[in-house]
Amino acid sequence: MSNWKATAQAFPNIALIKYWGNRDQALRLPSNPSLSMNLAGLTTITTVEFDPALKQDVFVLGGREIGGQGLERVSRFLDQVRMKTSEVFETSEVSTLFAHVDSRNNFPPGAGLASSASGFAALAVAASAAAGLQLSEAELSRLARLGSGSACRSVPGGFVEWAVGADDRSSYACSIAPADHWDLCDIVALIDVEHKAVGSTEGHAVADTSPLQAARVATAPDRLAQARSAVLARDFAALADVVELDSLMMHAVMITSSPVLMYWQPATIAVMHAVRQWRANGLAACATIDAGPNVHVLCPAEAADEVALRLRVIPGVRQVISARAGGPAHLISNP
Ligand code: DP6
Repeated sequence: MSNWKATAQAFPNIALIKYWGNRDQALRLPSNPSLSMNLAGLTTITTVEFDPALKQDVFVLGGREIGGQGLERVSRFLDQVRMKTSEVFETSEVSTLFAHVDSRNNFPPGAGLASSASGFAALAVAASAAAGLQLSEAELSRLARLGSGSACRSVPGGFVEWAVGADDRSSYACSIAPADHWDLCDIVALIDVEHKAVGSTEGHAVADTSPLQAARVATAPDRLAQARSAVLARDFAALADVVELDSLMMHAVMITSSPVLMYWQPATIAVMHAVRQWRANGLAACATIDAGPNVHVLCPAEAADEVALRLRVIPGVRQVISARAGGPAHLISNP
């Protein structure tokens, strides 16, 4: 075993206030601030080993070797880590080495369950440790952001805010409350687990083609302030309204972009209607949707069993996954 090996675990996150669109696409400097909750139980575990015997980077996801754009994205990310080692150490062998990356999710990738968030958060923590770098949480969050914007929010624990920042140095995420602050649950109604046709990266790139994006971005800081106060006060009723509004505003931008990004399927809309009806009748639940057809139904822990039961019988819902607030990305010694 070489010294240049480390394993990390990270959780995906569900955005309560969405990140959609970049001011700088290459650096992933977002157009608006966002707020999320990490999801315990759903995990990515990633092992990185820099290996002098390798002639190129190798990326294995869920036991399958990945080439093409998937490998390219991981390799470009590892370049950032290699570059950092040559900045930090006078002589760094790692800066010239390729790496073997083995990553496993216990949930389906590519269907709006934010596998790129936990994926790049785990990769940032594992690759930097494998390379001998000692980075602060803010530095790890910045690094993860370069791989996937939402990944910067999976580095700190619990409820996490990503302020837009002025530049690469100042755009990173911080925890506003730890996971045990509030027993909020995310009950995910899986409607389609196939890989989505248009990924978030392409989506961010066309956000500004929607005439609604400027209005969404201009009003996002107000929604974020409302959501932050609701989380800190554990006020579900206040959180529910702003979470649903913010998700609908992002999808309004998506369906009015060029090209049109229509992630919803009939069952997505059926779940949204049902959740609104349940809430009107007194069940504490609200719906939010990322760049995919699946619906994340947030609720206090007391309502979780009832919400899961009701979701399971909605036609088109294939599976229901429950998650509570999760902790930060971290190194693990026994993968
Ligand atoms: C709809 O972070 O997946 O989930 O930076 O290109 O990897 P890239 O995009 P990504 O975008 C997430 C978009 C979202 C909303 C959110 O999580 O805030």
